[in-house]
Amino acid sequence: MQVFEHITDTTDFIQSQKNNGKQIGFVPTMGALHDGHISLVNRAREENDMVVASIFVNPIQFNNKEDLEKYPRKPQRDMDLLKVAGCNVVFHPSAKEMYPDEVTRKYDFGSLEKVMEGKFRPGHFNGVAVVVKKLFDIISPDNAYFGEKDFQQLAVIKALVKKENIPVNIISCPTIRESDGLAMSSRNERLNKEQRKLAPVLYKTLKEIRERIHKKPIPEIISWATGEINQYPEMKVEYIEIVDSETLLPLQTFNNNVPSRICIAAILGPVRLIDNISLNMN
Ligand code: PAF
Repeated sequence: MQVFEHITDTTDFIQSQKNNGKQIGFVPTMGALHDGHISLVNRAREENDMVVASIFVNPIQFNNKEDLEKYPRKPQRDMDLLKVAGCNVVFHPSAKEMYPDEVTRKYDFGSLEKVMEGKFRPGHFNGVAVVVKKLFDIISPDNAYFGEKDFQQLAVIKALVKKENIPVNIISCPTIRESDGLAMSSRNERLNKEQRKLAPVLYKTLKEIRERIHKKPIPEIISWATGEINQYPEMKVEYIEIVDSETLLPLQTFNNNVPSRICIAAILGPVRLIDNISLNMN
């Protein structure tokens, strides 16, 4: 496995591989890898000739200084995991390498960036779009793999690719969960034992919402679900939304023919957890 810290070395190496006809699958990450990331690498390995992963804790997508400072960083462990998973190239730049100058680019993703995470994390999606565009420019992947856990991020990245005419296929991959249902996330390791025990209540509530969707009006279900989570003093719901899977706009009524998603964000102790599931039954 080759590890590069500089943009020009990475681009030169990847271009030489592309010139030899290699198809590149790309898995962008912020490190502190878990099985969710490894599932993306596995899928990229199955569908491409070469897998490139990036490890970069992108400072400009954090709207909370403490979240950035406390974000887990374990580059050596990550490298070992990537090697075992069959990754071929790791791009591991410094912040100076990625952003030698002040970032001024401002994207407009319309309502996609204003709802849910956008409302609670101002500037977050702009920071994600800037780094993903830059990574795509450096890596020139044929396919790029993202987890559905960050459902809104996926929608923003698809919009970015369309807006900038980037020749890459965005592949969305299912959320990987712990055995008790908690969606895997690098931030989960900041939960203490008690908080970790409580955390699966998010997924449990999402599934219960799905069961109730035909029985009660949406506002009533959301208010019930908010109460279910907020009954725990350590937990506080930021939002629970039932949205159109394409536009991410809130739905007033559910129609099984319209792809729909339940999205949730809640604070638990020092961590902000997000999760989502599809509402449509096949
Ligand atoms: O999902 C993430 O880990 C990050 O938002 C990403 C896509 C690597 C951009 O920094």
